[in-house]
Amino acid sequence: MKKILVINSKGGSGKTTVATNLASYYACHGQQTVLMDYDPQGSSMQWLKLRPSHLNHIHGADASRRKGNAIRSWQMVIPHGTQKLIIDAPAGVDGILMQELVQRADSIVIPVAPSPVDIHATSDFIKDLFLIGKIRAHKNDLAVIANRVRSQGQLYEPLRRFLDSLHIPFVTSLTDTDNFVDAMGMGMGVVEMDFEKTLPERMELQPLIDWLGEPEKKDGKVTELFPGKSAVAY
Ligand SMILES: Nc1ncnc2c1ncn2[C@@H]1O[C@H](COP(=O)(O)OP(=O)(O)OP(=O)(O)O)[C@@H](O)[C@H]1O
Ligand SMILES: [Mg+2]
Repeated sequence: MKKILVINSKGGSGKTTVATNLASYYACHGQQTVLMDYDPQGSSMQWLKLRPSHLNHIHGADASRRKGNAIRSWQMVIPHGTQKLIIDAPAGVDGILMQELVQRADSIVIPVAPSPVDIHATSDFIKDLFLIGKIRAHKNDLAVIANRVRSQGQLYEPLRRFLDSLHIPFVTSLTDTDNFVDAMGMGMGVVEMDFEKTLPERMELQPLIDWLGEPEKKDGKVTELFPGKSAVAY
């Protein structure tokens, strides 16, 4: 089972958007997928409730009401045979929870929104990850993605330099689009929506999928983010 943690202590950076789109991608490619929600607001669980029943199943694990060391009993909420575990972390995560989440994750994805405040907060968060989370750049797979980008300006340059100094890749930029908002409101990922309409979002997500690992294999064939024109019309 591959465990992918989507985390940033800064609220509204796009954790749930990225987590749900990753879960949708893997489910859509035939992977047994669990979406685990640590957010007390339960946005990922809400998204799952909206998910149309004809789409590939994603198992929901509500971890927001955990007490004490409930994180240690993941096995109890994760079905046998799970191939992808996507964890949607809450805003403001720190301390023991942050440490346990990052240490158990195989890959860590940090979305960051393009405001100076968000970029500054994210730099501080990454410093905390190294200190409190006790991660090491060469040991944990850690990547940052820009989210809700409206123009490719110079805004990210200070963050880029900071990430370069830590050898952390800046994997992709997701544009601020209606498709991401619509997907969230329909319990879908953009890869499950109309193919032509979501082509830009698919292309933006592809580098993240590539970074997370080999293209998934289904029925012996290599599949990718463009599963033909069989996407669901909406
Ligand atoms: N690429 C995008 N394009 C358009 N809207 C987006 C995009 N990413 C996120 N949003 C919107 O921004 C808001 C915050 O996104 P999201 O809920 O994914 O952030 P979050 O980090 O999970 O927030 P929280 O810290 O509250 O859990 C949501 O309304 C979401 O639909
Ligand atoms: Mg969220």
